[in-house]
Amino acid sequence: MMKEKLQAIREDAIAKIEAAKDLEALNEIKVSILGKKGDLTQVLKGMKDVSPEDRPKVGQLVNDTRSAIEERLENVKRDIARKLREEKMKNEVIDVTLPGRMQMKGHRHPNQIALEELERVFIGMGYEIVEGPEIEYDHYNFELLNIPANHPAKDEQDTFYITKDILLRTQTSPVQARVMETGRMPIRILAPGRVFRSDEVDATHSPSFHQVEGLVVDKNITFADLKGTLEQFAREFFGPDTKVKLRPHHFPFTEPSAEVDVSCFKCGGKGCRMCKGSGWIEILGCGMVHPNVLRDCGIDPEEYSGFAFGIGLERVALLKYEIDDMRLLYENDMRFLKQF
Ligand code: DAH
Repeated sequence: MMKEKLQAIREDAIAKIEAAKDLEALNEIKVSILGKKGDLTQVLKGMKDVSPEDRPKVGQLVNDTRSAIEERLENVKRDIARKLREEKMKNEVIDVTLPGRMQMKGHRHPNQIALEELERVFIGMGYEIVEGPEIEYDHYNFELLNIPANHPAKDEQDTFYITKDILLRTQTSPVQARVMETGRMPIRILAPGRVFRSDEVDATHSPSFHQVEGLVVDKNITFADLKGTLEQFAREFFGPDTKVKLRPHHFPFTEPSAEVDVSCFKCGGKGCRMCKGSGWIEILGCGMVHPNVLRDCGIDPEEYSGFAFGIGLERVALLKYEIDDMRLLYENDMRFLKQF
């Protein structure tokens, strides 16, 4: 009786196992036979009705049935898993001969290219790159630069004030005062950075642009040193045949002061659209550091002298790349920027 029942369970189980299509079906079969409420488990519960002398034999039979079913379960499970793996491998083939996807390359901004080139030239002449704050005290931006309250130069550079004493720097010249104030001599620095003026946007103006400030202070620095430095810079930056011309000018923090033109690197000085027919292009302001500025920054003008210059970064970038509208530098149009 028991024997037939076990035989029936075994045959039924094996037929079901062989027919199973996937691992879930197999698991369900396992539970329905070997689980807590499974067929074989039910039979085991009937063992208490078997006579004591038959128990070992029947027990043996139950165990045999169980291991036969378990073995078949394992085999079929392995087969299904292998088939699944093979199918997956077939579908996941990678075609290594396909062309790769191109990565978009970044571009340095023309301003950045011009700045790095400027820095390279001046580092070559022994300058150190320093930076000052964009939010500045009136004291450094004007006062220490020989531009006292009510000086008309304050109106020339339309200033964004934050409080009465704090402003967005209108020039990088305050970095001069900050460096001189430290009292470390000699000084030979280049100070690039962003400056702000309340100007309307047009082809040559922006409320925020960049300057590169230069300052040299030491014993026996003369106007000839300034001129030689500017000539060296112009030749390296604009080309070996570039000539330099200094025109007298006025800045409150330098005396004497000059504006500097370079011979047009497009036409070589003959006159073209770039230099508006004059053969010369204005690139910077400069001069000998005013004795008042040295003194106010704690340097004895009897012992030390120096020169300074201020370059408009956008201006030289536009010139270098023959771009005629400054707004192109700020609009971040990839079609434009990709060209550099
Ligand atoms: N700070 C001046 C400006 O913004 C530029 C300048 C002129 C800087 C002469 C200098 C200098 O250091 O010597 O217009």
